[in-house]
Amino acid sequence: MSASQPAPHVSTQGRTSGDGVAGVVPAPPTSRVRMDQVMAPVEADLQAFDTYFRDALKTDVRLLNLVLRYLLKQKGKRIRPTLVLLAARTMGQPTESTFRAAALVELLHTATLIHDDVVDEADTRRGAFSINALWKNKVGVLLGDYFLSRGLLLALDNKDYDALHALSDAVRRMSEGELMQIEKARRLDITEEEYFRIISDKTASLISTCTAAGALSAGASEDEVARMKAFGEALGLAFQIRDDLFDYGSEDVGKPLGIDVQERKMTLPLIHALREADPSEARRIKRVVRKKRKSRRQVDDVIAFVKEAGGLGYATERMHEHAGEARRLLQTFEPGEARSALEALVTYTVQRKL
Ligand code: IPE
Ligand code: IPE
Ligand code: MG
Ligand code: MG
Repeated sequence: MSASQPAPHVSTQGRTSGDGVAGVVPAPPTSRVRMDQVMAPVEADLQAFDTYFRDALKTDVRLLNLVLRYLLKQKGKRIRPTLVLLAARTMGQPTESTFRAAALVELLHTATLIHDDVVDEADTRRGAFSINALWKNKVGVLLGDYFLSRGLLLALDNKDYDALHALSDAVRRMSEGELMQIEKARRLDITEEEYFRIISDKTASLISTCTAAGALSAGASEDEVARMKAFGEALGLAFQIRDDLFDYGSEDVGKPLGIDVQERKMTLPLIHALREADPSEARRIKRVVRKKRKSRRQVDDVIAFVKEAGGLGYATERMHEHAGEARRLLQTFEPGEARSALEALVTYTVQRKL
């Protein structure tokens, strides 16, 4: 992959000559951004986060330890803890509560992924078998609950009530978003507006909580926290559109492809394609999508239809719009190494292959 490609240091990314001037949004860089570049300014902080994360999961239940050992081997990208730490460093100095917030968001994120794979009947995650594929749904459901409860306890034990409140609200919205998605999968009548409500709830809510919690933990003002939250929201929308585009591709992203169509998940590329197609073709495609079990050929047929109708191009445009909004919001903060890394993270989000 891109790991061998040389790329300029993160602090030179996303800059134009007018950098730092109010109202000037730097053009998105064309060179590839890697996650390790984004993480560079918070490398040491991430180690503190790791300790909190592992300690929070300690247990004397044998089966749990076995599953945990397996799960901890497959590392995710750690975008959410990185966001907490970078948001904190953009506003000031991280504190112990910053590291706990970083651990808390990754615990909740992991909980939702484990549950999501049960809901989506996905058999791979992060390039390995999913928990439900290896240990069945029962273990997936209970393990997700375990992560959720340990996350909440980590905050409660340390009286991080503000973080706890914000994160609990994000979890509520994530559940609502996933349930609304199921409702829409039954009726296949989703509008673009409803799609954005769903992805705001299921994905952007947690990402915006990361940036807000990071800023808050470093003593940011109410207005600064609100702006960081808005930045996270815009980034989160771009992030989920990117993920939804993966599903229509053929590159290895460590999880099953074509699964959204298989599971009747109506995402932006399909919504747009159906809107553009002539009504009889749209009806035909909907009939295929509605089927409970589809052959690989039928899924490929829907994917080809979406590509033909310009669904991927449209979703890509919308993704860039939200990434642009995220970049604009970042310009309202003091320039520095952490802010530059956040700019690079926006670029990474839209370029990423994983
Ligand atoms: C996957 O999130 C779930 C979505 C919100 C699309 P990530 O892509 O951040 O997953 P990991 O943690 O890196 O595996
Ligand atoms: C995102 O939805 C999952 C959550 C926000 C819980 P997806 O179902 O698209 O995520 P992946 O593709 O399985 O990672
Ligand atoms: Mg899924
Ligand atoms: Mg997905």
